[in-house]
Amino acid sequence: MIIEPRMRGFICLTAHPKGCEQNIINQINYIQAKGPIDGPKKVLVIGASTGFGLASRITSAFGYDAATIGVYFEKPPKDGKTASPGWYNTAAFETEATKAGLYAKSINGDAFSNEVKQQTIDLIKADLGQIDLVIYSLASPVRTNPKTGVTHRSVLKPIGGSFSDKTVDFHTGIVSEVSIEPANEEEIENTVAVMGGEDWEMWIDALKSENLLADGFTTVAYSYIGPAVTEAVYRKGTIGRAKDHLEATAFTITDKLTEVNGKAYVSVNKALVTQASSAIPVIPLYISFLYKIMKEDGIHEGCIEQIQRLFADRLYVSDVVPVDEKGRIRIDDWEMKPDVQAKVAELWKNATTETLPETGDLAGYKKDFLNLFGFDVDGVDYQADVNEMVEVPGLV
Ligand code: NAD
Ligand code: NA
Repeated sequence: MIIEPRMRGFICLTAHPKGCEQNIINQINYIQAKGPIDGPKKVLVIGASTGFGLASRITSAFGYDAATIGVYFEKPPKDGKTASPGWYNTAAFETEATKAGLYAKSINGDAFSNEVKQQTIDLIKADLGQIDLVIYSLASPVRTNPKTGVTHRSVLKPIGGSFSDKTVDFHTGIVSEVSIEPANEEEIENTVAVMGGEDWEMWIDALKSENLLADGFTTVAYSYIGPAVTEAVYRKGTIGRAKDHLEATAFTITDKLTEVNGKAYVSVNKALVTQASSAIPVIPLYISFLYKIMKEDGIHEGCIEQIQRLFADRLYVSDVVPVDEKGRIRIDDWEMKPDVQAKVAELWKNATTETLPETGDLAGYKKDFLNLFGFDVDGVDYQADVNEMVEVPGLV
């Protein structure tokens, strides 16, 4: 069939298999051009089908020849209905990995559940023995805690007072004022339950109890800090509380890893267009200024460039991983450069619907958003008939 983008709010209901495939090939080419380095050989990526997790899987496989297992939650295709993009991404990744002689298998299901953890454990035992890296890259609005059976829903709200600032509807380019009422205690707790570190710790506990962590084991989860303009709704809001918890969990996990000489890290990454970040108020306007400035300065990166740098310049560069005063890896260093942030703050002040197309990279934002779903990818023939019924070769 001919597949076109169908937008609803912050998401696109359709995805293009060929566009997703081309995105994967572009990312593989980027990593291969960097040449081989010494690093992880057996890698589990939780949240492996899109965004930073996908880039982590591609970097592990094609940068380090690693065997990879990916865990994700994606919608398969149904007659006449496309799959979600992470399905097509994984299909393309596993096809390319297999061609390159690399082990690549995956599990599609709820990573928060005991069942998916058990399935993953069984797969590692059967195929890999022990693993030396776990990347934790889930972004979800909801989590059912397997111990309590309680389903928690996250919210994106400020804490302590209401918040008003500019935001943009990136589909229409209309800049408007958004006001968000503060979260109550229960909403804060629920957000921490979904996006904090509890599930990450459960994963490492489960893998460790089965003796599946190799000596020198490393695990990394992803966090975000960002600038003053997004602080009230992000880092000092409900999601920021969850990130505080995630960052604290790195220390809790590290304490449990002494027997295997292991370490848990949080890496603070750059703001990028992903399905997760598009849903956060204010962030798209910030990203459109950030992209404009970082592209002008020649320091713009996407997920793959970020993760390539994380592996090559932070995790596997020497025996000592460079971290900040709070023990966090920082690959948001270029985003947070004072001159970049000063320019964003200046553009922010004068942002209107009329000025944004000139002062912000709205076009770049929109293209990246469409790209997430395999649309508007250079070199793809969108008039050609495509089969939506793609299979994921390594799906267990
Ligand atoms: P994303 O939406 O692209 O990826 C989320 C992944 O999680 C997908 O693979 C999805 O299938 C998987 N997933 C979601 N719910 C699941 C479930 N219940 N079971 C199994 N898999 C599930 O998001 P992203 O932007 O790459 O975010 C990943 C991490 O990076 C998050 O912790 C996020 O906060 C962080 N981060 C994002 C940004 C940004 O700007 N996008 C910046 C810094 C840090
Ligand atoms: Na991810």
